Amino acid sequence: MSPATSTAIASPNIAFIKYWGDRDHDLRIPANPSLSMTLGGLQTETSLTLLEPGAEDVLILNGARVSGPPLARVSGFLAHVRAVAGRSEGAKVDSVNSYPAGAGIASSAAAFAALALAASSAYSLDVSPTELSRLARRGSGSAARSIFSGFVEMQTGQHDEDAYAKPFLPPDHWPLQDWVAVVDDQPKPIGSSEGHLLANTSPIQLTRVNDAGRRMQVCRHALIERDFNQLAAIIEQDSNLMHAVMITSTPSLLYLQPASLMLMRSIKAWRAEGIEACFTIDAGPNVHVICTSEHSREVERRLRSFEVVKDLIHATPGQGAKLQNTVAT
Ligand code: PMV
Repeated sequence: MSPATSTAIASPNIAFIKYWGDRDHDLRIPANPSLSMTLGGLQTETSLTLLEPGAEDVLILNGARVSGPPLARVSGFLAHVRAVAGRSEGAKVDSVNSYPAGAGIASSAAAFAALALAASSAYSLDVSPTELSRLARRGSGSAARSIFSGFVEMQTGQHDEDAYAKPFLPPDHWPLQDWVAVVDDQPKPIGSSEGHLLANTSPIQLTRVNDAGRRMQVCRHALIERDFNQLAAIIEQDSNLMHAVMITSTPSLLYLQPASLMLMRSIKAWRAEGIEACFTIDAGPNVHVICTSEHSREVERRLRSFEVVKDLIHATPGQGAKLQNTVAT
């Protein structure tokens, strides 16, 4: 018998080589491969309770009941799980984040990684880690990577079957630090789901996608060798390429703000001084500052001195999605 409630935890991730644009939007098959670090210390906990067969799904986010597009997205995801599992019960999904919304940390990655695990447990879907990654991908492309610990890579894939993430290096391989400098905590006007649809309108997206294999290789090599300067150069180039595509899309997506640019310049200058720090920025204005543990305190001290930095969130290489507990009926 299925458990009445299944609870799973998952962490978000920060992509060093970023995915932007889909090969298949409905299946969320990414246009290019990607490589990320799972962000330990930050967490989403999701409990899924089965309701009566045919009951409407219910979504509770950080204690508040939610309807509209977020519920439709979760319900669409659960409909797929139910179809595969041959089940018909509705579900109550109760999800809590340990980190603030709008912090420049893509919460959909942790949310759908935790939901994929909780739902497959509650609906008795027996899935391998690869199948779980494929399932999470249908909720959010980057969620496929949050299934795994440490440094994680994701191939593009041509179809649903071959588009999934896999672990690349364990968390203790290199204790890199991520300081997220929050310069704006307002919700972004265009989220990544809509943004992916615009990627192909940029005349430079194809160039970015075609060069992604090279960037993956350089990034893998830098991580294996723990070569910070090589890592910094490729991470910053990859982030800049994605923002170049965003800015040159129609309509243009400009996520960077003056404070983001000011931090980008500062971090480059710090590196010239010998501080091992570099930046990467997702679909928003907040700046992830990746640094070595040796330079972490100094990076934190410097970031705290900026008035434009409203908040600092810290993460280190962490664990993949885990089932917490199940309450048997
Ligand atoms: O998983 P999505 O649809 O939220 O897209 C993620 C997009 C980026 O965070 C900007 C890049 C990435 O690879 O995580």
